[in-house]
Amino acid sequence: MSKKILILNGSPRPNGNTAALIAAFTEGAQSAGHTVTRFDLSRMKIGGCLGCCGGGKNPDLPCVQKDDMTLIYPAYREADIVIFASPMYYWGFSGQLKCAIDRLFAVAELDPNYRNPIKTAGFLMAAEDNLPNTFEPIRFYFNSMVQNLGWTSCGCVCAGGNLEAGVILKKPEQLAEARALGESL
Ligand SMILES: Cc1cc2nc3c(=O)[nH]c(=O)nc-3n(C[C@H](O)[C@H](O)[C@H](O)COP(=O)(O)O)c2cc1C
Repeated sequence: MSKKILILNGSPRPNGNTAALIAAFTEGAQSAGHTVTRFDLSRMKIGGCLGCCGGGKNPDLPCVQKDDMTLIYPAYREADIVIFASPMYYWGFSGQLKCAIDRLFAVAELDPNYRNPIKTAGFLMAAEDNLPNTFEPIRFYFNSMVQNLGWTSCGCVCAGGNLEAGVILKKPEQLAEARALGESL
């Protein structure tokens, strides 16, 4: 069955390693008949969550802040699968991506019990390090988030050993993993 996939791209480098992972993943997903919508967060105006708990009143515009998240909310509502794509910044997602994730709370506020819309989720990440424990913190964070939201994980691609923009293009096995994840959905 064709699925709607939303990719939130937290990398600011248009020709970077995350972008290459996203391209390979998208190719795989589209070849399997899925629809992919991507938002390049670093080119959007997305403020940090204000913690005002004043959202959740209007399903179309759930947050009190009327910035570029208003473009993402409808795609998030429609999506079957959400893919978080990011470079590793200080063992976590980039700030651009974390800002967007925090702002999804306004959607949970639409439900009197703060229930989140149920999704399947995965993540794609490029990092400089490639040690046995490099991706432990992000895997723990992602798995905790998915579990607590009541979501299901569809998997992840953790691509270590990539510092300069585009070096991942010399690692076909990492790109093949991203393509395979897209194809598998
Ligand atoms: C602010 C910043 C923080 C970073 N933190 C880490 C880190 O904690 N661990 C790591 O292995 N690489 C780290 N890196 C390296 C990036 O993850 C790596 O260069 C990645 O390939 C960038 O992906 P991109 O090309 O999609 O931007 C950091 C880079 C920057 C700019």
